[in-house]
Amino acid sequence: MTGTKNKIALVTGGSRGLGKDMALRLAERGFDVIITYHSRKDDATRVVEEIASRGRKAHALQLDVSDSSTFDSFVNEVRSVLHSKFGAEGIDALVNNAGVGVHAPFTDTTPEQFDAMVNIHVKAPYFLTQKLLSVINDGGSIVNISSGLARFSFEGYSAYATMKGAVETLTKYQARELGERKIRVNVVAPGAIETDFGGARVRNSPELKKTLSSLTVLGRVGTPDDIGGVVAFLCSDDSKWVNAQRIEVAGGIFV
Ligand SMILES: NC(=O)c1ccc[n+]([C@@H]2O[C@H](COP(=O)([O-])OP(=O)(O)OC[C@H]3O[C@@H](n4cnc5c(N)ncnc54)[C@H](OP(=O)(O)O)[C@@H]3O)[C@@H](O)[C@H]2O)c1
Repeated sequence: MTGTKNKIALVTGGSRGLGKDMALRLAERGFDVIITYHSRKDDATRVVEEIASRGRKAHALQLDVSDSSTFDSFVNEVRSVLHSKFGAEGIDALVNNAGVGVHAPFTDTTPEQFDAMVNIHVKAPYFLTQKLLSVINDGGSIVNISSGLARFSFEGYSAYATMKGAVETLTKYQARELGERKIRVNVVAPGAIETDFGGARVRNSPELKKTLSSLTVLGRVGTPDDIGGVVAFLCSDDSKWVNAQRIEVAGGIFV
């Protein structure tokens, strides 16, 4: 669909943290990029400017992944931006990254907290992807973002990690059913990364950082630039035979 034009990636939650690094690394690999933000428009604008300064086109759209009733109008917005700004009809890569966490003991987690996690981490990768299929080019790539917490346990993350387990299962089914369009689907599971995520617990607690570092073979926690390049690789043709895989990017934790 895009002919000789640049490939285009859509990264949800690209205004900061891991999504920002993914967007920048995709731009370095030659992608034009659409990012979404939830509330931090200024941060998103700065990412767009940074991508433009690297010679690639970029655009930011507002999206609340917790509200699936908005997905149809979001897809229409994507289609319209593709036409007006990118001169294209489709995207080549989708990264389902946006999200917040809940940190609460299993015994205290409420149905409301659980439902919020379902909407953000399961319903969105499921139905946003389903709706966006009309603008994803055949031969494209989808990357879902899970967490190391889906493989190992760490106190306080039962609801959040349950959702990430679901995303890993979903990835296999998406890969199976989208294979006929040659769309690859993989899942990246980051370890603990220093971002704003979860009230910036990893970044702000020296004690937690020390514990996590001691559990990790490479002896530290992660930073966003540990993740973006792996996602960009999975969106690119260099990974054209990598499909339905879970890649943990965590420095070797709980090996
Ligand atoms: N950091 C970690 O240790 C870690 C580890 C494993 C997996 N992950 C996963 O990695 C992904 C990104 O996390 P992060 O660490 O980069 O978090 P972050 O720094 O807090 O950034 C979160 C991003 O998601 C967006 N967002 C939040 N709620 C949203 C909503 N309801 N609708 C749409 N967008 C929303 C934010 O937009 P605004 O800027 O507009 O608020 C922001 O762009 C998440 O799926 C998370 O579960 C993180």
